[in-house]
Amino acid sequence: MAANPKFAQFLTNGMTTDSTTAPHPVPDQSRALRDTLGQFATGVTVVTTTDANGQPVGMTVNSFNSVSLDPPLVLWSIDKESLGYDAFTAEGHFAVHVLRADQQHVSNLFAGRGADKFGQVRWQEGPNQVPLLAECAAVFHCRLAQCIEGGDHTILLGEVLDFTANGGEPLIFHLGRYRALAGD
Ligand SMILES: Cc1cc2nc3c(=O)[nH]c(=O)nc-3n(C[C@H](O)[C@H](O)[C@H](O)COP(=O)(O)O)c2cc1C
Repeated sequence: MAANPKFAQFLTNGMTTDSTTAPHPVPDQSRALRDTLGQFATGVTVVTTTDANGQPVGMTVNSFNSVSLDPPLVLWSIDKESLGYDAFTAEGHFAVHVLRADQQHVSNLFAGRGADKFGQVRWQEGPNQVPLLAECAAVFHCRLAQCIEGGDHTILLGEVLDFTANGGEPLIFHLGRYRALAGD
């Protein structure tokens, strides 16, 4: 399904009837856009920080991605409506935890709005007061380097200060569902 019929025609036939009409996103098609973005399979992370009152804050995030090796930079984007928005966009540090296939419950927990997330997982305080979750595939400890305006989200650019890889099968998210990696 495509939001714009000319774009659909282009995808199907490799050309449009009107070559002067570039495919534009169509307003009020956000459900279709979201579904189409869901074709892009991702891993699943939980990002954590501490708020101004010293309380741990965390949320499930699949917009995480690598940006640069030199300097080491990663990014993710946060919904401006998230309860953790102020904590994550304030100057400071955060940790990105790459979840394992057996941590679907952790993903669901941290996708809950304002729930008591840290009462239900094993964690400890790491450097810069950043909460660190146990048993993840990898952890990136970051300093918030820049916030970039991104519509209803803000893109957070993080400088990687430290990282650990434990490995294990990753948790995959695709078309709104958790998946397992297909065997080799
Ligand atoms: C698989 C998955 C990926 C998600 N990725 C993001 C994301 O990249 N950015 C975002 O703002 N919310 C994302 N969410 C939604 C947040 O986890 C959810 O809104 C959470 O309740 C926010 O917590 P808070 O409102 O308590 O801060 C994702 C949810 C799931 C289940």
